[in-house]
Amino acid sequence: MQVGEVPVQNPAQNPVQNPMPDVPFKPGLEGVPAVQSKISHVDGQLGLLEYRGIPVEALAENSSFVEVCYLLIWGTLPTQTELDDFESEVRHHRRLKYRIRDMMKCFPERGHPMDALQSCAAALGLFYSRRALDDPEYIRAAVVRLLAKMPTMVATFSLMRKGHDWVMPRDDLSYAANFLYMLNEEEPSIEAARIFDACLILHAEHTINASTFSARVTASTLTDPYGVVASAVGTLAGPLHGGANEEVLEMLEYIGTADRIEAYVDQCIANRQKIMGFGHRVYKVKDPRAVILQKLACELFEKQGGDRFYDLAIKLEETVSDRLGGKGIYPNVDFYSGLIYQHLGIPADLFTPIFAVARLGGWLAHWKEQLGENRIFRPTQIYTGHHGLAYEPMAER
Ligand code: CMC
Repeated sequence: MQVGEVPVQNPAQNPVQNPMPDVPFKPGLEGVPAVQSKISHVDGQLGLLEYRGIPVEALAENSSFVEVCYLLIWGTLPTQTELDDFESEVRHHRRLKYRIRDMMKCFPERGHPMDALQSCAAALGLFYSRRALDDPEYIRAAVVRLLAKMPTMVATFSLMRKGHDWVMPRDDLSYAANFLYMLNEEEPSIEAARIFDACLILHAEHTINASTFSARVTASTLTDPYGVVASAVGTLAGPLHGGANEEVLEMLEYIGTADRIEAYVDQCIANRQKIMGFGHRVYKVKDPRAVILQKLACELFEKQGGDRFYDLAIKLEETVSDRLGGKGIYPNVDFYSGLIYQHLGIPADLFTPIFAVARLGGWLAHWKEQLGENRIFRPTQIYTGHHGLAYEPMAER
């Protein structure tokens, strides 16, 4: 059959047709450019990650999460006055409407916090329903509202499911310190807040990954920003994406002791089972974020006493690198973040919601960029199904 020929009616004789024969089909869109972006850059061979041209190492060392969000969304580092204004706006919008809290009271306590967060993000659209995507003030207000309120949503659900009262955000604390304060119901040390802030920076943006792609696809329909973020949260939740950090701890718990590592890794390889926290579509060396997170984990554990999983994680990294390094499989961002969060007293099922709060910086930057040169996403498909089948009456099926 020639390309472009009218499909035959007999399904048995119908070959698969690519409507664009010059464009090969790439499962998972691997290597296919889907957008043009100025927001971040990754070099998977060199292990390089830059936000708006600045290496992430320099930002984790010197910046704050709120400043990084400003950089990602508006494209340049803020002046002191711009940063003060932005921080002050975010600081003063941390509270949730009582109706959102009432809605959360009806959520099942055993539900996953990512589902709660997705529902709450989408619900913001009910309360702030005005949509003015070409108004810079509307964009700024939506950015501020989402950045300010999402940590409170995560913490409120966490407390409510334990039967505790919701906690009032503290305007006197920095973004990271207030988030930790709300999660743990106690003010964190300066050191803990600094490390948590660096974790948020490291998770803030990572080019056109699955959830960011989701955000851009949703944004391209010109829907409201709350729908954009809700769709991205839903995409981040899966174990192949943001959900991996939670599974890393389950895996370390399951392995238990260092003498079981080799057998575990060999068994995973033999069963073609993925080892959580390893591998990346882009990085073929150790993820630069994992390098920094490991350093931060080390600092934290040295200051606050060791961590029962850290030595196990180091040995697991050595074994996996030894067995799978040839394939470019090394630790990714999710491998060490869970260890740090656990040490900070955060329950494992909140790791991915925290990732979502951090990734808001990137999602909102991509939302804004998509609006700037929008065309609705509408790829094509290669139809592999039947044609021209007769409708079978119910009684004959
Ligand atoms: N453990 C063992 N083998 C692996 C792993 C792993 N974690 N990751 C990839 N491989 C192997 C895979 O079996 C395959 O081998 P072969 O060529 O012999 O069939 C090869 O490497 C390529 O794997 P793939 O699944 O085709 O690679 P991908 O680019 O589609 O997947 C990934 C990337 C991140 C989904 C995958 O590495 C994975 O599932 N890792 C575990 C989950 C994880 O840690 N996810 C967090 C990703 S980073 C943060 C984020 O994006 O949210």
